[in-house]
Amino acid sequence: MLNTVKTLEWRGDALRIIDQTRLPTEQVYLDLRTVPEVAEAIKTLRVRGAPAIGIAAAFGVVLGVLAADDPPEALRAAAEQAIEELAATRPTAKNLFWALQRMRRVVEQTANQGKSVLLERLLTEANAILEEDRQACRAMGRHGASLLPDRCTVLTHCNAGALATADYGTAVGVIYAAAQAGKRIRVYADETRPLLQGARLTAWELMQAGIDVTLICDNMAAWVMRTVGIDAVLVGADRIARNGDVANKIGTYNLAVLAHRHGVPFYVVAPLSTFDPEIDSGEEIPIEERSPQEVTHPFGVQIAPEGVKVFNPAFDVTPAELISAIVTERGIVSPPLAEGIRKLLDGNEKS
Ligand code: MRU
Repeated sequence: MLNTVKTLEWRGDALRIIDQTRLPTEQVYLDLRTVPEVAEAIKTLRVRGAPAIGIAAAFGVVLGVLAADDPPEALRAAAEQAIEELAATRPTAKNLFWALQRMRRVVEQTANQGKSVLLERLLTEANAILEEDRQACRAMGRHGASLLPDRCTVLTHCNAGALATADYGTAVGVIYAAAQAGKRIRVYADETRPLLQGARLTAWELMQAGIDVTLICDNMAAWVMRTVGIDAVLVGADRIARNGDVANKIGTYNLAVLAHRHGVPFYVVAPLSTFDPEIDSGEEIPIEERSPQEVTHPFGVQIAPEGVKVFNPAFDVTPAELISAIVTERGIVSPPLAEGIRKLLDGNEKS
């Protein structure tokens, strides 16, 4: 049995999350009770990963209405204020806006019926978003595992595992599913500068689950492909455009270029909630830029001269032509990606 971590859960009047900024050295759980607390947790990456951000925000809207009172206009205003505050936390992950839009629809349909009905419906919707993500992880795992040979070595970037979702992850979920299916799988995990989600989170959760994992610095990937031999690169996504361009953690594009050079398949694993039907290409994806401190003072230690200029984009965009396939809960989209995505989105009423 795989022992994956509980990333977030609703506790009756609070959203409980594992504080990912404290991992791997401490396992601390936080009960978030207000919209500002949820917004802060998303901004600071206490809760992170595109699907988990969406789920946390959905429960954040519940908390916003919990603190409000009738009449309907006041409920509507409180919900809208919560949605706006949560939407302003991180710009890149489509799942955040997708989940908030679902919550907004419930508010529009139900606010007139008073606080208790509205709260019940919002909670039902937030739980549905969580449960759908759980099921999507399992389905992506099954589909993705079919792409991997019985014995293989894969490379991952950032964390697209249990800590990024309601279940066992997207890209890392494929690894868990392959292991559960009896495949012998070894993982090389990029440390993922500057915030080290690969070192702190992916390495930790794979070890917890008993998966063979080796940690490397990001700049070792080409050499590992050349000398160790990598059978596939598996990454998650924060937003996918209609043409198949994929935004994911900064450094993903590097890996795609390297994989192309070394003839290694490059797979993106993401649920439908990550696809953005409104944008044609990756050029339209908003890329979050984060504080220079993350680069100059990682984890509080100064490693660069005071006042140096810094560029710190949190994500990059991998062009569709470098992607071998996108694994979704509905199946595998193969090139030409634009055509496959069109069919996928046309059949998805909720997108
Ligand atoms: O900044 P983060 O840690 O939220 O970035 C996360 C990623 O880039 C993940 O790969 C992506 O959200 C997919 S998670 C299933």
